[in-house]
Amino acid sequence: MKIIKALSATALALALAAPAVAGPDDDNLMINGDLNMVTETAAPDHLGGALGSTIYSGWRFRTDETQSLQTDDFDNPAMLFIDQAMDLFNTVDGTEGKSCASCHDGPEQFAGLAATMPKVIDGKLVVMEDLLNGHRAKAMGAEPWKWSGDEMQSMVALIGLQSRGMPVNVAIDGPAAPFWEQGKEMYYTRYGQLELSCANCHEDNWGNMIRADHLSMGQINGFPTYRLKQAKLISKHNRFRGCIRDTMAETFAEGSDEFRALELYVQSRGNGLSVETPAVRQ
Ligand code: HEC
Ligand code: HEC
Repeated sequence: MKIIKALSATALALALAAPAVAGPDDDNLMINGDLNMVTETAAPDHLGGALGSTIYSGWRFRTDETQSLQTDDFDNPAMLFIDQAMDLFNTVDGTEGKSCASCHDGPEQFAGLAATMPKVIDGKLVVMEDLLNGHRAKAMGAEPWKWSGDEMQSMVALIGLQSRGMPVNVAIDGPAAPFWEQGKEMYYTRYGQLELSCANCHEDNWGNMIRADHLSMGQINGFPTYRLKQAKLISKHNRFRGCIRDTMAETFAEGSDEFRALELYVQSRGNGLSVETPAVRQ
């Protein structure tokens, strides 16, 4: 046990470039020349200073090249998926012969929704994917979309886009409290052969380089995110899986209750940052 702990500490130390390079850059995120985004703000009280006094969007840790793709919708490759979601919105599917547009005027009616998700509805912690598949089953008689599939994530992105620029504001008290506690415990649990928690990287080492990557605070205010490496929209749960896999651990499934709770907790660490959906990352 001792030996493994020592090894994992060494592994992280080796992977991290010393000395501590730099924190976020000073760039300002303005989209389409008129939408000013909050990429740094006072850390939420519940963090108790764990991230210092200020939280930063992941955008502030990216290269100028990657950053610039998010400053104009004509350059943002995620917008192709937004177009596809617009088509889907108007496409009839399922046994009821309905499209989203049969009942909803347009995606604009969902402005503000993504900024407050996940949330508890009827005692269940619900994320956006749940709302959409619930609707497809109940209102349309249609098959559920695959969690990280293009259809699902482009629709999650289209609805998220309606909240772009609004502050993330998830509730963590009341009925959400037990789910939030569960997510928090996961965040500080060491996973895998490397015995690393989310906090070991995104709380203890944000701003440092790990291999070729500039470590951010691991915020999810820009999800679904277009990843250049994968050339598609990536769901939050897919990102969680990838990060846990990197610690050489078995991971939870996308859409599992564990990842719902983790999503609520991670989202709450970004309360006050602008929703950036759909963001662009390396
Ligand atoms: C048969 C009519 C109908 C269809 C078809 C339908 N919806 Fe809905 N939708 C509703 C109603 C009614 C509500 C409000 C009550 C509820 O949440 O169930 C709602 C609520 C929602 C909400 C939650 C809004 C909130 O503020 O909580 C979302 C998101 C949504 N719909 C998206 C969609 C999408 C995307 C589609 C297509 C894939 C779709 N809906 C298809 C009737 C429909
Ligand atoms: C071994 C270090 C390491 C661990 C442990 C780790 N991550 Fe990450 N994570 C990274 C790196 C490297 C990146 C890519 C650079 C960045 O955005 O910080 C990343 C990116 C992310 C992002 C994308 C941020 C953005 O702005 O797009 C999220 C979200 C995230 N991690 C969440 C988590 C969560 C939740 C956990 C725990 C389950 C976790 N990470 C564990 C290294 C780690």
